[in-house]
Amino acid sequence: MQRITILLCVALALLCSCGRKTEIHDYSIVPEPAFMVMKNGGYTWSNSTSICFPGLEQNNTTVRYVMNSLRQMHLRPTLSGNAESDCIRFTLNDTSNSELGDEGYLIEVRSDGIFVSANTETGLFYGYQTLVQMLPEDVFMHRYSKITLPSCTILDNPRFEWRGSHLDVSRHFFSVKDVKRHLDLMAAYKLNKFHWHLTDDHGWRIESDRYPRLNDIGSWRVDRSGEWDNAKPAAADEKPTYGGYYTKDEIREIVAYAAERHIEVIPEIEIPGHCSEVLAAYPQLGCANDDTTYQVQVGPYWPPRAILCAGNDSVMQFLYDVLDEIVPLFPSSYIHIGGDEAYKENWHRCPNCQARMKQLGLTSVEPLQAWMIDQVGRHLAQQGKTIIGWDEIIDGGASQTAVVMAWQNVGRGMEAARRGYRVIMTPTEHCYLNFYQGEAEYQPVAFPAQIPLHQAYRFDPVPLELNSRWASNVMGGQCNLWTEYIESYERAEYMLLPRLCAIAECLWSQREQKDWPRFRAKLVRQEARLRCQEYNVGESSFKPVVVYEKTAQNDYTVTIDWEREGTDVYYAVVPREHVGDTMWKPDMILYTKPFTVQQGSVLMAQCHYQGNPKEKVYEYHIGE
Ligand code: ACM
Ligand code: ZN
Repeated sequence: MQRITILLCVALALLCSCGRKTEIHDYSIVPEPAFMVMKNGGYTWSNSTSICFPGLEQNNTTVRYVMNSLRQMHLRPTLSGNAESDCIRFTLNDTSNSELGDEGYLIEVRSDGIFVSANTETGLFYGYQTLVQMLPEDVFMHRYSKITLPSCTILDNPRFEWRGSHLDVSRHFFSVKDVKRHLDLMAAYKLNKFHWHLTDDHGWRIESDRYPRLNDIGSWRVDRSGEWDNAKPAAADEKPTYGGYYTKDEIREIVAYAAERHIEVIPEIEIPGHCSEVLAAYPQLGCANDDTTYQVQVGPYWPPRAILCAGNDSVMQFLYDVLDEIVPLFPSSYIHIGGDEAYKENWHRCPNCQARMKQLGLTSVEPLQAWMIDQVGRHLAQQGKTIIGWDEIIDGGASQTAVVMAWQNVGRGMEAARRGYRVIMTPTEHCYLNFYQGEAEYQPVAFPAQIPLHQAYRFDPVPLELNSRWASNVMGGQCNLWTEYIESYERAEYMLLPRLCAIAECLWSQREQKDWPRFRAKLVRQEARLRCQEYNVGESSFKPVVVYEKTAQNDYTVTIDWEREGTDVYYAVVPREHVGDTMWKPDMILYTKPFTVQQGSVLMAQCHYQGNPKEKVYEYHIGE
């Protein structure tokens, strides 16, 4: 985007004067800190301000990260060895402050300086991320000679240890630069687990020395860009030209880049299903009864029939070999082994799978998947790794040491937690950011389901109905981005933002700190900040959010909400005699407070933003 356009966007966002606003009296930090109090006075950060890190070496990772980041903002920072009076000081506590834990921090902005302290470098890093959000939104574009920050105290720490973001690089492949940009975004919102979905039916994306055909064949597909839903399967004479994979050096580079941002990278290798690309490269790893010629898929692939044979020892050896290559690249103690949507039709008919079931005394295929995953889990445990699997792994009775990633719905996560598994919540109700963020007719093509911003914000990894006895099994949650319809990282950003900010607040902030109108208001500054850094922020939905509740008199109380700060909603209740009458023109009035209607009433409502009607007049049938 041109600089001038960005300036205009920012000016518009900041100046937006019409529409209804929630007053914000502080810094608009996302995710909301655990405790913040604004004070009188402030600190003026000027050209003479220096930055100091008492006790940390100049080449310490956090020191280098902070200094580079400030340089990118043109703040001309000077690193100072001594803790002078006019300085911004980052201090590691000598004695641990129990209120901060391993990731928390304390910031004090006073007239004589800014003081950031933490028990760990991770805490200092998060303190710095908060400090960045306290600077003007356009600090990334202008050279400020001085900035005055209002005095305040912030004490902050996260609600959950697992604050993840998943990226599918199989359906579409993203460059090292894109992945780094993704990691930067995660760091800005204090997300700490990058779940890298490296293999699937549409491409294998990690270098393998022992199985070179995984890269020569499995990483490439025939290019059907722009036609996902209508993509015809590849013909035998078509050349596979779309794809690629990360070399081991690139993986190391990304893992190191993530570590500098206090992000752990968890690779995912799909077992036993979603493996067309493996079978295209090594057909002998499929079931003996299956004579399909697999190709690296080019479009929708459902049901996903490709499955590794569970009765063939050389398949198990293949998995051990591949994982042995992967383990040294990723310092994380977790490896994700997939386990979702394994279509087991072949296993019923394959003589090898049937023989394995007989040998194990199994009468159905679900425990056969559990056995296969358990074998892999045992192999990885010898190397100090714990497996994570999608929630289907509990169906056949996965080992209790496995971590369950609950995706199908919140209920599956609660079931796994009650059965004693550790759980990461990433339910389709709130966390699938590849779903539309608004009505399809106003959005670029996406997966045909919808999660508007307010629905993402309603995510709670520990639902209230989950008894506290089981709640402690929930490690946290994450947002997922499946990329069937996402051809570029620019589009990925459009889908992620601003919903990733909502998920980040659900994962970092305490339940009582969450406040939807306030969050929505904070996004005005957040989006301006993101746009100044040339992030492609999604166009929110302008469909009024209508909620109705039955009264004691059997009427309905209607409440109308909206997604974007600065929106006005106009509405009309259609008299019964005019329902369905397209000639009747309603008098739309400004919504100011909840109102009551009879059951069966039809409500018409439309958002206006900055004085202009947006999208269409939507109809709602109340109580039906
Ligand atoms: C999934 O969305 N199949 C995990
Ligand atoms: Zn088989």
